[in-house]
Amino acid sequence: MQVTLVHNPTAGTGSPTTEELLQILEDAGFAATACSPKARNFNSVIARASGVVVAGVAVLVGDDRLPIGTARAFAAQADERKYPVPQADGVTIDRENEVILVRFQGAVYAFNLACPHEHTALRWREADGRFQCPRHESKYKPDGTYISGRATRSMDRFAVRQEAGAIVVDLSRLFESDKQAAEWAAATVKL
Ligand code: FES
Repeated sequence: MQVTLVHNPTAGTGSPTTEELLQILEDAGFAATACSPKARNFNSVIARASGVVVAGVAVLVGDDRLPIGTARAFAAQADERKYPVPQADGVTIDRENEVILVRFQGAVYAFNLACPHEHTALRWREADGRFQCPRHESKYKPDGTYISGRATRSMDRFAVRQEAGAIVVDLSRLFESDKQAAEWAAATVKL
């Protein structure tokens, strides 16, 4: 479960720090992240999800929005690219290699950036918690599963493995969910 700590900029001293609470949550096995909104935005941020306020820090539980960022392979060998293991649930995009890396509910996936319909670059819609194609609006879950639209299969997955603390993506092995169902289902790293 994703947990987000929101630091209250108006809180007084004597509260546990965000770092202390993050450590407690991570020790307990939660995927925890933190943010520090400006004072005027604090109430609107905590209104986005249910949660409790602990001594000046709002703990938002069950907000499954995945943040988006950019990824860059730190090593390349032939068709393989290595990425750091994502430390929390989220979506990162490596535009250079046209790879989308997702950590979601204890698993990591690597997708082709191109929509399986007519190869338009897919977009992550954080507010809706899904991918969507800007061309014909096909929709996909965070694990790439097809929801609706003109596409006829789920997002294409690259073969992935975990090796020496890295996620290794093999760009030469791309699986289509309708033609290679078993390989597509197996193309994941369980954390
Ligand atoms: S190109 Fe993505 S739905 Fe058509």
